[in-house]
Amino acid sequence: MTRYSKRMVVVHWLTLALLIAAWYLGDSLADATDESKATLAGYIVHLSVGGAVLLLTLAQLVFRCKDGRPPLAEDKPIYQAVAKYVHYFLYTVLFLLPVTGITIVLNSKVGAALLAGDANMLPKEHGFKDVFSHEIHEQLVNVLIVLAVVHILGAIKHQFITKDGLMERMMLRRKD
Ligand code: HEM
Ligand code: HEM
Repeated sequence: MTRYSKRMVVVHWLTLALLIAAWYLGDSLADATDESKATLAGYIVHLSVGGAVLLLTLAQLVFRCKDGRPPLAEDKPIYQAVAKYVHYFLYTVLFLLPVTGITIVLNSKVGAALLAGDANMLPKEHGFKDVFSHEIHEQLVNVLIVLAVVHILGAIKHQFITKDGLMERMMLRRKD
């Protein structure tokens, strides 16, 4: 096997797109909460996009087991180890981020507000002060950014320095 299966490729890029959307929506939601202007729709959209990231990540793990994956690219053992563990940590964070999101909903007034359909019950400024999972959710976003930067730098190195065509393995359109 020299490249990822087509469904792995589709899920990889779809996850990236939804992740950017979830990040933007989460940030906007936090700003709206600080101004006491958050809406039920704002929560429902963030929760749905974030939930979709969780489903896609689980699908990616299933496809990875069923379809297999190409061996690590030829490289110095240290770079191979970094690539391997960054992939593991990315999966871990992609799983934990939505799970902590669900925990925020369950441990704050968000759940009750959604069930009652009443935006006035939503947390206002500092409303998540005592919700520990909110802090974890926020910090996990920072961890994800660091991991994604290392991952993208690796992809750039292979594309422009090593020039070994590694990106082809994560592409639908293939030269041969
Ligand atoms: C992997 C996808 C996700 C990403 C990238 C993401 C990102 C974010 C970000 C950046 C924030 C703002 C944090 C802050 O600065 O206070 C946030 C807040 C939040 N997220 Fe997520 N999130 C994701 C998934 C979820 C899911 C699945 C749920 C729930 C089912 C969820 C529930 C929440 C809640 C309740 C808040 C608090 C909003 C507020 O501070 O007003 N998130 N998220
Ligand atoms: C512009 C951004 C990105 C580029 C160019 C890119 C490129 C790639 C490439 C080329 C591979 C295959 C590596 C190999 O064959 O050894 C890969 C794998 C992977 N990517 Fe990305 N990626 C990007 C963003 C992301 C993001 C944001 C995430 C998650 C947050 C992510 C998660 C993964 C994971 C988990 C794998 C490992 C797949 C596996 O072997 O199970 N990627 N990426």
